[in-house]
Amino acid sequence: MIKVDISNVWGEVSLPDLLALEKEVFAAHNTLTEGTGEGNDFLGWLNLPVAEPTEEMRRISAAAERIRESSDVFVVVGIGGSYLGPRAAIELMQGPNHNIGKGKGNPQIFFAGNSLSTRHWNELMRLLEGKDFSIAIISKSGTTTEPAIATRALRWMLERKYGTDGAKKRIYAITDPCKGALRQMASEEGWETFVIPPNVGGRYSVLTAVGLLPMAVAGIDINAVMAGAAEAKETYNLRSFENPVWLYAAVRNLLYHRGKCIELFESFEPGFKMMGGWWQQLFGESEGKDNKGIFPVTAELTADLHSLGQMIQQGERNMFETMVRFAPPEKAAVVGSDWKNLDGLNYLEGKTLAFVDEQAYLGTLAAHADGGVPVITMDMGELNEEKLGEMFYFLELSCGISAYMLGVNPFNQPGVEYYKRNMFHLLGKPGYES
Ligand code: PA5
Repeated sequence: MIKVDISNVWGEVSLPDLLALEKEVFAAHNTLTEGTGEGNDFLGWLNLPVAEPTEEMRRISAAAERIRESSDVFVVVGIGGSYLGPRAAIELMQGPNHNIGKGKGNPQIFFAGNSLSTRHWNELMRLLEGKDFSIAIISKSGTTTEPAIATRALRWMLERKYGTDGAKKRIYAITDPCKGALRQMASEEGWETFVIPPNVGGRYSVLTAVGLLPMAVAGIDINAVMAGAAEAKETYNLRSFENPVWLYAAVRNLLYHRGKCIELFESFEPGFKMMGGWWQQLFGESEGKDNKGIFPVTAELTADLHSLGQMIQQGERNMFETMVRFAPPEKAAVVGSDWKNLDGLNYLEGKTLAFVDEQAYLGTLAAHADGGVPVITMDMGELNEEKLGEMFYFLELSCGISAYMLGVNPFNQPGVEYYKRNMFHLLGKPGYES
């Protein structure tokens, strides 16, 4: 079980405050699992985890194997919920530099269609030069502008390079089972497809082919990821404060009502940065509506202690932190000795990097708590595939419960449409003239 420690929030909230919320958390949890709340047509994610591979998962693994054998590079096209999950998973498991040294057999993985930057596009074109590549187009609606533009260009590149039939074998579409432009294109062109179930929204889709195909191409054991999530589904179904999901949801709700309207979600692992991005979308899009919501910000420690640290320690007291910890890996790194000791580091000689990291964590925790910033800690334990699946499910469940406690629909995102309407008008898209 993931351990949530709230001992560093007691200055701000009290045990009676927490216990008084029990009924509310219970009700929010039931609203979610019984499907009686707003947005209840988007609860498919609750039952995605399975202990044994499904037929769809077997097809995903087989496609991943073909992609690995035939491609130097795999390009994943998508944005928002159709992009953040797979990138988060791959970077957490394999590090932010996972592409270095990869090629056919274990392809590099690049992400496209998540911006409108020409520089980013030109860089991708350079990276694809002379390379065998395959693409996955991920879009539930099939109409999102950023991935649609990237798709059009990448598809033509593949057709020019491999011919129409050759290209077909290198294009995979992950979309709604029946509707949308991408579904229609895939059917007409004969691309292999995987499904985003209609009752699973983008930011809750990481345990569908959206996350699983890119993970499998990266060599991550998706059966273990799903088994971890399936176990989490059972474990976190518990209806009491022994459930860390309850603790996390209840404490962030209490803190919000005490004016802590910013949550900094932090880890001491550089590979966690995109996981922070995934969490940011999950909580931001789920809670930020009706003029309510905790503003989600992600940070990487210790790096950001040298940029955000001052603000956290002594800036406006409107934030709390959630610090995520993992057990250190087996292979240790040790501080060496230097007889001159000009850097004054010999007092650390023989100490592991993990030991130094732990002291940095404890020191930061105490400093920020002293500075009036409540800190929730999440001890994830060992990082492996099962843990990855568990973590995704744990955070999704926490988010659904939190949002219902806040009184908002966790599963819509009406605000996202505003910029699109303006952009379409400016671009002259038919139907957006006024
Ligand atoms: O969470 C969401 O629903 C959004 O972030 C979408 O995933 C994102 O806008 C991409 O949409 P689509 O998958 O339809 O291209």
